[in-house]
Amino acid sequence: MSHQVALSFEDGVTRFVTCAEDQTVADASYRARINIPLDCRDGACGTCKAFCESGEYDGGTYIDDALSDAEAEEGFVLPCSMRPRSDLVLQIASTSAVAKTQAASYTGEVTRLDRLSPTTVALSLKIPDRDKLTFLPGQYVNIAVPGTDQTRSYSFSSAPGEDELSFLVKITPGGLMSDHLTGVAAVGDSVTFTGPLGSFFLRETARPALLLAGGTGLAPILAILRKLRDDAIERPIHLIYGVSTDDDLVELDAIEELAAQLPGLTWDYCVSDPGSSAPNKGYVMSLIQPEHLHEGDAAVYLCGPRRWSSRCVSTSPTPA
Ligand SMILES: Cc1cc2nc3c(=O)[nH]c(=O)nc-3n(C[C@H](O)[C@H](O)[C@H](O)COP(=O)(O)OP(=O)(O)OC[C@H]3O[C@@H](n4cnc5c(N)ncnc54)[C@H](O)[C@@H]3O)c2cc1C
Ligand code: FES
Repeated sequence: MSHQVALSFEDGVTRFVTCAEDQTVADASYRARINIPLDCRDGACGTCKAFCESGEYDGGTYIDDALSDAEAEEGFVLPCSMRPRSDLVLQIASTSAVAKTQAASYTGEVTRLDRLSPTTVALSLKIPDRDKLTFLPGQYVNIAVPGTDQTRSYSFSSAPGEDELSFLVKITPGGLMSDHLTGVAAVGDSVTFTGPLGSFFLRETARPALLLAGGTGLAPILAILRKLRDDAIERPIHLIYGVSTDDDLVELDAIEELAAQLPGLTWDYCVSDPGSSAPNKGYVMSLIQPEHLHEGDAAVYLCGPRRWSSRCVSTSPTPA
């Protein structure tokens, strides 16, 4: 039996390798021509030490100098010794450049270009080599703006298992990609992108989750919810979706549908424009109630516009 191992590099690049149960992660990476840090390849030096974000594995044999019991307890692993027992997500203590790998490039075709509202466009793509693209819900790609040497980043709103790749784009008037999508692009156009990228993605724990989405920050949150739906996960989840104006309010039907499919999902939304017709006027933070935090046990995923500082962050555990 084989499993997918996500190797998440320090520069945000993620590469996936297929690893058999009797194979070490280091061997699978080497066969995929990804040079993760390695020296002894025998659990003796600690050079390959990585952090396992999620998944089950057999840690293999190694000496305490390479990995202490306390480190193993925290989730650190040695890829040269470990063998997967499920799909895994590993943080690799290196950049993709050092590992001589890079985000892969794909070319596909626009299959949907819908103006959902005056400010937001839904974009869908199909690529011929869809089986070669694996991503984690929450990740993004860099899409080339046709006719230029520029790229712009967009988060998947579709789940990793869906054939079509979907995105939500907020139109910035005068913006390069925005003007292209609203004035030039059409269904059938060729599109090139690289990815997947980003360390914002769903961590597979049973903890309750609080999802905060601002504007088209809803896209990665939808990908997370769709993945949870596809896996029939029942952990308690509360979504708060906030936008600036009624025009920015999109995909309410999609959220409603997800709430009907995901028994653990509750949700609410707000619009900050005082003239809005929405029942809740204000910002996302104003709708957070103490029970949504589950006495500090909730994993919080936040993705929003630039003024929310970093576009997407989560409170899931990462190594010190
Ligand atoms: C990791 C990541 C993920 C992203 N995911 C999405 C996504 O899923 N959906 C989405 O709509 N956007 C997303 N963005 C933003 C997106 O990449 C572009 O920046 C945005 O679409 C504007 O591109 P443009 O070419 O139309 O405008 P540009 O030509 O890049 O910009 C035009 C002008 O608008 C300003 N500007 C650009 N973007 C913003 C902004 N967000 N807020 C305020 N001013 C801005 C620029 O500084 C410039 O002055 C993401 C950005 C990052 C870094
Ligand atoms: S390479 Fe030496 S412990 Fe893994």
